[in-house]
Amino acid sequence: MGRVVSEILCVVGARPNFMKMAPILDALRAYPKLHPFLVHTGQHYDEDMSRIFFTELELPAPDRDLEVGSDTHARQTARIMMAFEPLVQERAPKMVVVVGDVNSTLACSLVAAKLLVPVAHVEAGLRSRDRTMPEEINRLLTDQVSDLLFATSADAVENLLAEGVAKENIHLVGNPMIDTLKRHLPAARARGTVERFGLTTRSYALVTLHRPSNVDRVDSLRRIFDALRALSELLPVVFPVHPRTRERMDRAGIRVPPGIHLMDPLGYLDFLGLMDRARFVVTDSGGIQEETTALGIPCLTLRPNTERPVTITEGTNRLLGEDPSAILSAAKPLIEGKFPEPRSPKLWDGNAGTRIAEALACRLGVGLT
Ligand code: UD1
Repeated sequence: MGRVVSEILCVVGARPNFMKMAPILDALRAYPKLHPFLVHTGQHYDEDMSRIFFTELELPAPDRDLEVGSDTHARQTARIMMAFEPLVQERAPKMVVVVGDVNSTLACSLVAAKLLVPVAHVEAGLRSRDRTMPEEINRLLTDQVSDLLFATSADAVENLLAEGVAKENIHLVGNPMIDTLKRHLPAARARGTVERFGLTTRSYALVTLHRPSNVDRVDSLRRIFDALRALSELLPVVFPVHPRTRERMDRAGIRVPPGIHLMDPLGYLDFLGLMDRARFVVTDSGGIQEETTALGIPCLTLRPNTERPVTITEGTNRLLGEDPSAILSAAKPLIEGKFPEPRSPKLWDGNAGTRIAEALACRLGVGLT
């Protein structure tokens, strides 16, 4: 008689999903009766935004690529749903695992829930309480239709309980993104990325900005570049540019001074290598607030709020608000001052993927043999 194997559809779509899914896929290998089937929605599709991460993170090639590409929010979400629904019907999985807060996360969890397939959401319960962020809508709705909710921090557990999620469905497992960081840090350090860019340790600022609230308005984008120009007079500024930001910069005709080193988006290892040895990081990303906390690198977040408060209370993150001129005043003491010690929120220990796989196996009634 053949062994009964339970299939789990594991969904990735956009750049920040890949490093969260990698340790979960790894840990699921320990369960011969669980078969992960990897779905890439194709929300991100470039070499820079997608393919290089599969190579560097040693992710298996997707079992299915839905190839949806870029579009407006409604159209992108709808296209993912339309492509994912027949796949769920075809595979009849026992569970769908989604990660993070991108449009692919919401689209696939909604499809699964309506087909009565249980949904597991990794990184559940994070809340910025800012519904102008598309990711906040994705987080709220995904958690509402999820059956298993994996939280990275205690505040996320509190948020879910306050929203009426049953306690037994919530698992505080730590942060799978930090599993990936810990695993790949030695390889990132060995690449000599800092030297390759002609930089030295702690002598430069690393910048990433892509949120619609910062880059979609011309006046805000101009004020950001005014602030970065002033910053670049104090230390070199390294800025790998997200395609959304690049497009807005081209449209606004932004001229970039020589002290700001613009480049295409970097792969995981080069970016981690640069983050690890930066003086500080300026960002509006969610994941980078967490990675800088784990590395002990000061992080200045150009946003009025964060869904990751643990990076402030237990980490190196500081919220600047929305006014880019705050970058310079916050940077000065970091350039002159002492360097902080790395700190690590509870369970950000490199074993979150293992805890997630254990909980999935337990829910599906599967053991290690
Ligand atoms: C998405 C996520 C955001 C995440 C970010 C990381 C949502 C709502 N937002 O935002 O949470 O922080 O990814 O990168 O899901 N593009 C390319 N190549 C690609 C993908 C996109 O050039 O491979 C360009 C397209 O012109 C597109 C634009 O980037 O219009 C934005 O892509 P999209 O996936 O819509 O959102 P992001 O801004 O990347």
